[in-house]
Amino acid sequence: MPIDFEGLRVVSFESRKAAEMAELIRAAGGTPVIAPSMREIPLEQNSEALTFAKLLLAGWIDVLILMTGVGTRLLVNAVSTKYDTSQFIEALKSIEIVALGSKPVIALREIGLAPTMVLPKPHAWSDLLATVDEQYPVNNKRVAIQEYGQSNPERIKALEDRGAQILPVPVYRWELPEDLAPLRRAIRDIIGANTDRADFALFTSATQVQHVFQVASMDGLESKLQDAFREVCVGSVGPVASRACTEQGVTVDYEPDTPKMAHLVREMARRGRDLLDKKRIASANRVDTNQWRRIDMVWQPSTDGQRTIADSVFMKACRREETPYTPIWIMRQAGRYQREYLRIRKKVSMLGLCKTPELAAEVTLMAVDRLGVDAAIIFADILLVTEPMGLNLEFVKGEGPVIHNPVRTRADVERLNEPDVNELAYVFDALKITRRALRPDIALIGFAGAPFTIASYMIEGGKSNHYVKTKTMMYRDQATWDALMERLTNILIAYLNGQIAAGADAVQLFDSWVGSLSPDDYRQFVMPHVKRLIHGLDKSAPVIHFSTGNPALVPLMKEAGGDVIGLDWRSDLAAAWSTLGDDVAVMGNMDPIVLYTSPTEIRTHVQAVLDKAAGRPGHIFNLGHGILPDMRPENVAELVDAVHELSAKS
Ligand code: CP3
Repeated sequence: MPIDFEGLRVVSFESRKAAEMAELIRAAGGTPVIAPSMREIPLEQNSEALTFAKLLLAGWIDVLILMTGVGTRLLVNAVSTKYDTSQFIEALKSIEIVALGSKPVIALREIGLAPTMVLPKPHAWSDLLATVDEQYPVNNKRVAIQEYGQSNPERIKALEDRGAQILPVPVYRWELPEDLAPLRRAIRDIIGANTDRADFALFTSATQVQHVFQVASMDGLESKLQDAFREVCVGSVGPVASRACTEQGVTVDYEPDTPKMAHLVREMARRGRDLLDKKRIASANRVDTNQWRRIDMVWQPSTDGQRTIADSVFMKACRREETPYTPIWIMRQAGRYQREYLRIRKKVSMLGLCKTPELAAEVTLMAVDRLGVDAAIIFADILLVTEPMGLNLEFVKGEGPVIHNPVRTRADVERLNEPDVNELAYVFDALKITRRALRPDIALIGFAGAPFTIASYMIEGGKSNHYVKTKTMMYRDQATWDALMERLTNILIAYLNGQIAAGADAVQLFDSWVGSLSPDDYRQFVMPHVKRLIHGLDKSAPVIHFSTGNPALVPLMKEAGGDVIGLDWRSDLAAAWSTLGDDVAVMGNMDPIVLYTSPTEIRTHVQAVLDKAAGRPGHIFNLGHGILPDMRPENVAELVDAVHELSAKS
């Protein structure tokens, strides 16, 4: 898991920062292929803008149509290189100005002007023509039309057809470089026409994408290039460059959460080799990776010498076998701290995401692709099981999970459905899809909430500080409490066994809120149920038994069962493990809040946890609890790297 391109060939289209990119790529172990794709055009060389100014000042122009905000500013700046700005602005006041959308309006305001007419976007161009026809005939008018970058002949013709005299005013910022040889060579490297084939292509602006395709089309190679990107790993610095790739029919394989060049290179080096292998295998299996979804990128069926789940470092640690390094996965590794996750969540609710197996699998795999963790955890939620029991579950923005018909009385418990676990088949389907697409030696973790933690939501109706209603039922009416716990335990056994049958290599039981109990209460009200639950599980999958909040419960959790005990940060890992004994593996337990600090601080804390584990077989690294939504994704990635590096036994 080192940050290393392993000598593979990495194309960068940077111009101004070409040397810097080459250095970054080299430092990450790659072979840089530098192909500058842009040249900045000095403002005074925008000759169409200057012609426009001349005609405007001569009184020839009647109407100016402004298409973009960037172009409007560029036009003013270009004109200002030759003409007096205030005179130019005065002249603009005497003509009609039509703005498309709000962006040109803002740019006009900056120079103290307001448009005569604003036409709303979208459907901007057809709206414009309709309005022109109805209210503003351009017949015999002299119309200048500002366009950013390339001129659009159809637009111009449509206006000419209406009897206008048109002056196109394309304004430019970027031009192709004078020497196109390096770019042409790189395009051929990508296509595979040269002996040295390109493995990675990094785009650090949208214009680079457009220029690469422009040059390819000059050489008649446009569609070849598009095809070739199916086997080259494509990195984009941010959303704008990514959109430009999509427009060219190329799917971006990686976009860092922070849109910076150094991050792009680093993250591509970290995970790129895996993405590249996956992409090429998928392509060999005739998956169209220009339209790819991670779930389609299935690893080749196991053949001799290929990695299998038997090689999984995580699974070995569950069995307390020696491992070459300490495996790590992170609770909530897929979630709102990731920009890509938020992008998906914009289009679908939390429940909708859980209930769409392809999307749940996609989100699960995305976290593994981005972080390089040793296990995937299926994207789902511990409260999903409450639905087949007859409860009305909702995830409310800013508030968390809410159950609208909470369970408060014996009658409420009696009224619960005899649940059919197949109502949760969407989770099983997500596991099946994920297992197929996941690298064979990366483990897939299924999970469920433990009965106490789920019961607390069922009784309280949502999150709680003191679990007043939960504990009151428990203390006052143990029969009702036990009846509820029994029903929960039954469905959880079926649910987890269903997950194992669907492909979960291990399962985790989250007893997140049980730490609110004393050891005696745990023994009396919780342990019998958890014991029965774990006992009822298919033995082929190791069980991780996790709780937070109360280190005194840890020995009792072991008594209740589990192959791995998950600790939160309040436990001293060394002391807890000594108490637990060597016949159990341990997961944990860095304080998640450390992720708010710095890479240096993170490394120090990682080392401290590793020191507590002292190289004993059976340690799985994790945070003491989940990642929080406002944590920096780079710091999460740093954690994974630090664990792998600092624990490596060379
Ligand atoms: O990556 C993973 O760890 C897998 C996914 C996962 C989620 N929830 C997704 C989720 C897992 C393992 C859980 C378990 C879970 N859910 C627990 C136990 C783990 C723990 O943190 O102790 C608990 C207590 C829940 C109940 C629950 N669901 C809470 C408290 C919340 C967060 C409420 C909030 O808004 O902060 C949820 C919703 C939830 N579950 C989210 C995610 C990614 C956020 C949903 C969103 O995108 O809006």
